Amino acid sequence: MLVSIAPTPTAAAVTQEAARRRTFAIISHPDAGKTTLTEKLLLYSDMIDIAGAVQGRRSRRSTTSDWMDIERRRGISVTSTVLRFEYAGTVFNLLDTPGHKDFSEDTLRVLAAADCAVMLLDAAKGVEAQTLRLFEVARARHIPLITFVNKYDRPGLDPLEMIDHIESVLGLTPVAATWPVGIPGDFRGVVDRHTGTFHRFTRTAGGAKRAPEELLTIEQAAEREGDAWTVAADELELLDGAGGTLDEDDFATGKATPVFFGSAVSNFGVGLLLDTLLASAPSPRPRQDVDGAPRPIDMPFSGLVFKVQANMDPRHRDRVAFLRVASGRFERGMRVTNARTSKPFTLAHAHEVFGDDRVVLDEAFPGDVVGVINAADLRVGDTLYLDEHVEFPPIPTLAPEHFVTVRNRDATRHKQFHRGLEQLAEEGVVHLLRRDPGADPAPVLAAVGPLQFEVVVARLEHEFGVTVGLDPTNWTLARRTDTEGAEILRQSRHADVLYRSDGTFMALFTSDFMLNRFEGLHPDVLLERMLTR
Ligand code: G4P
Repeated sequence: MLVSIAPTPTAAAVTQEAARRRTFAIISHPDAGKTTLTEKLLLYSDMIDIAGAVQGRRSRRSTTSDWMDIERRRGISVTSTVLRFEYAGTVFNLLDTPGHKDFSEDTLRVLAAADCAVMLLDAAKGVEAQTLRLFEVARARHIPLITFVNKYDRPGLDPLEMIDHIESVLGLTPVAATWPVGIPGDFRGVVDRHTGTFHRFTRTAGGAKRAPEELLTIEQAAEREGDAWTVAADELELLDGAGGTLDEDDFATGKATPVFFGSAVSNFGVGLLLDTLLASAPSPRPRQDVDGAPRPIDMPFSGLVFKVQANMDPRHRDRVAFLRVASGRFERGMRVTNARTSKPFTLAHAHEVFGDDRVVLDEAFPGDVVGVINAADLRVGDTLYLDEHVEFPPIPTLAPEHFVTVRNRDATRHKQFHRGLEQLAEEGVVHLLRRDPGADPAPVLAAVGPLQFEVVVARLEHEFGVTVGLDPTNWTLARRTDTEGAEILRQSRHADVLYRSDGTFMALFTSDFMLNRFEGLHPDVLLERMLTR
């Protein structure tokens, strides 16, 4: 699985390696088929021979966070942060995202490391209200979005309705790349609109093997498929009449999305999706630094920590920082600098994390993700670099909407309580707010969704031996502000000001009304909305 290349590659070699990387995420509502699709991508890239290694979802469903039951999963886990596979000489890094909107901030962090995203929809459900936020987060990144409408083997929205639905709900321009032929229960295949070829599939038992595929011309399809073809042909004519070819620039900036129809469980359309990822998903591009200057990918090594996960493996109780390589060649044992602290850092324990397995990683290139083990000094958003200084912009956070006060129930575990909260805040599990920068005995936890609180309570108990109680508060909105703004806010009766663990002042409001009143009186006070730092 390791890429072999000369030990000191030239800039040209780094560019060449980067060109054969595709780093993407799949975002979807739970149950839309992300696990199944992931496994089928592995089947179609010949990484596995038989699908079915991924355990039934029901037996391991979790309401909190995907990784929490990681130990209970066997076979090929798609719950770890990154799954790396090769296909047609290209290295694919598939980044995992949580499926629940309460964890949108995790998705935002993961997307900071992805160059492209697949939006996976259930044919019967379309864009579910719960998932809208995740898609909005993806859109805010302005990366290419590829839509896969799954489960076309079952009754669902009519494909034309689905196209309208995507447009109206997401405000994206959907352009059908393939078109389904056949009715639910008798799904026969898809037309590739680009080539005009009909891909006729045959099911295999349980979808364990690739679906045998015949390529038919339009004429052959019309002859073979009868009425099913007539319906699809009429719909295609309507689509062609409405124009609708994919504009390359709109695709590149996430304004337009090619739409694929298929059925992951029966392997229909999976190969076409994989080939599209190969041909159209972008390879790593220069990442902009804090000043907006691009860091060319063939410059010396640089990378961004986009996720920190402690205690992933209860046997080791370690802390893994996930680093997306932005430029140059990563080499195990490399001594780099952390731009936040200006301190040197040796990347000694670097792994490729594949499912539950960890493979020692000796080198990596732009687009790759490296798991740095026991990286106590690394935080989400840190930039690491070799030789030539660079600092990437911080990963945005979402404005929290849920606030509780957290109380330690066991006074003897005071230290563990504070250490646990600090650590969870550093990982981005929750925002930790205090009345003053000192040790507030009852800090405030702020979250995008209440499930984040459940994770905090469970992890404090299991990892730090601390039992806590949560008390509701009246706040419903938060905005970031600066030192001057904080002073003005302190004098105001419309808001409270708290101090976030990363040093940011947060203004907390009980309602939109209060926020608007304050803004009316103090229009100059900086109060950033969504995607604040
Ligand atoms: P997730 O990771 O997005 O949560 O979804 P997952 O792949 O676990 O799939 C959720 C359910 O949908 C599974 O059924 C899976 O078999 C089914 N599914 C996935 N793709 C398709 C498809 O193309 N067509 C149809 N008809 N079903 C599909 P389950 O009964 O919950 O679990 P299992 O026991 O079948 O694994």
